[in-house]
Amino acid sequence: NKKGFIFDLDGVIVDTAKYHFLAWRKLANSVGVDFTEEQNEQLKGVSRVESLEKILAWGNIELSEDTFMELMARKNDDYINHVYQMDESEILPDVVKVLAHLQSINQPIALGSASQNARTILKKVNLYDSFDVIVDGTNVTKAKPDPEVFLRAAESMEMEPEQCIVFEDSVSGVKAANTANMISIGVGSKAVLHEADYVFKDFTEISVDFLNNLLKNEVK
Ligand code: BG6
Ligand code: MG
Repeated sequence: NKKGFIFDLDGVIVDTAKYHFLAWRKLANSVGVDFTEEQNEQLKGVSRVESLEKILAWGNIELSEDTFMELMARKNDDYINHVYQMDESEILPDVVKVLAHLQSINQPIALGSASQNARTILKKVNLYDSFDVIVDGTNVTKAKPDPEVFLRAAESMEMEPEQCIVFEDSVSGVKAANTANMISIGVGSKAVLHEADYVFKDFTEISVDFLNNLLKNEVK
């Protein structure tokens, strides 16, 4: 019995959500916009372009296309500086254990991320070879909550959407998984991720029994 296991990257595999937060806050503050953790929650899973559009909208700021591009580049430079310092120690608890279990029972594993930096990050933390399929921000045109990224991952794994299970830390990612007709597993707060089929605080709460039970259920 096979399922397709699809993992988001930022905030699921590694705690890069904190680096995105720091870089966006710095950028937002530099154009005079306050930036709270709550606002940051709304940027999780959201593409780089849409994130900046939201920040500018919160501050009622309109910019020329050139300045917009410049700010996006500045944010990414700042973010990349954090990424370059990453290593295996930044893989979130028990992620390796879950990946290893799925590999040991021959389940296909995909990455489904909005980030254009996904491949760089996977290489930095030495997980690049753990994924059979990688779909990231360089491969898709529509950002989460659009299901495109997960549907592409399913297709590449040669799995039907109904056979796929998505691990997500963002509201937009959970919506994308649900729209794709996949099983959504929220990783984070129940209050935030209440639309997910299941929610766990982190991977330490996800048991081998739970994973094996997922394999037994044919459909959602
Ligand atoms: C998502 C993050 O995974 O990727 C977002 O949750 C981020 O915060 C988005 O904006 C795009 O990432 P990047 O690395 O291409 O700017
Ligand atoms: Mg995420």
